[in-house]
Amino acid sequence: MIVHSAENSLIAALPGSERLGTDLAERLGGRRQLVEMRRFPDGESYVRINGQLRDTPLVIVGPLDRPDEKLLPLLLLAATARELGATEVGLVAPYLAYLRQDRRFRPGEAVSAVHFARLLSDRFDWVVTIEPHLHRLRNLGDIYQVPARAVSAGRLIAAWIRANVQRPVIIGPDEESRQWVEPVAAAADAPFIVVRKCRVGDFHVEVSLPDLAAFRDRTPVVLDDIISTGGTVEQIVRMLVGAGFPAPASIAVHGIFAGDAYERIVNAGAKVIVTCNTIPHVSNAIDVTAHLAAAARAMLERTAEGWNERASPSAIAVEQ
Ligand code: R5P
Repeated sequence: MIVHSAENSLIAALPGSERLGTDLAERLGGRRQLVEMRRFPDGESYVRINGQLRDTPLVIVGPLDRPDEKLLPLLLLAATARELGATEVGLVAPYLAYLRQDRRFRPGEAVSAVHFARLLSDRFDWVVTIEPHLHRLRNLGDIYQVPARAVSAGRLIAAWIRANVQRPVIIGPDEESRQWVEPVAAAADAPFIVVRKCRVGDFHVEVSLPDLAAFRDRTPVVLDDIISTGGTVEQIVRMLVGAGFPAPASIAVHGIFAGDAYERIVNAGAKVIVTCNTIPHVSNAIDVTAHLAAAARAMLERTAEGWNERASPSAIAVEQ
């Protein structure tokens, strides 16, 4: 028995994600649910759901970059939806934050990945995201107590590379990146290398390029999951240009671009900077909405026993 139909769902967008909310509603066949979210002058959050929710599943959509300012209003919204009769509350967070502090690197540190996941698991029935930063964690199920689904942007990125870069060589910025650089390179029919990186501070990384002699006639494509301060990509782009390569392309799934990160990467010599539309930014050129919608549908239409056949994980894999 199917628990819900996606067509009955309501989709509420966090501020700034209205376009994604509308696109998602169209793809699910559901309706947009208007919500009002703002700050009182004293800094507290005001949240209002403008309409009827009774007996309806609600999907809240929005990336969780700058998470500290978004989390409390998000939790208030989810809790209010439940009070007002939503049958379930799901979260589509194209960018899921707090995944990098996944262990105690120094004594006394908060393992914030675990605590953040617990906060969301307490308020949501399920979570969907794309390319979460999983390095030491095997999957989201390691820390989320509700069904949590991560879809891949790999094939979309490979398609962009095939269409836009002649004779690419894909550059992974660190050993962690091998897990997504390798399949993207295979799908783009391109060679890849992985750079050695050592982070020495929030803003500083030390990078050493391997021997690139075999790739002299290729255009470098620096591929990372997240651009945050931009320090990693900026430095690699600068070194590649300094080594005489053509201006590299920089591709990331999630473009946070803290401070002047975007300008610094441009100034380092990148020919183009491209991101997926997980966080609204001028660099968004790869549309992941269809993948998010397919995963959200799978969650909404899961059976009491688990995934239904139409919306199984393998159905999504085929769509990619
Ligand atoms: C590493 O853990 C990630 O894959 C990225 O390389 C990192 O988040 C990039 O950070 P930033 O832009 O601050 O150098």
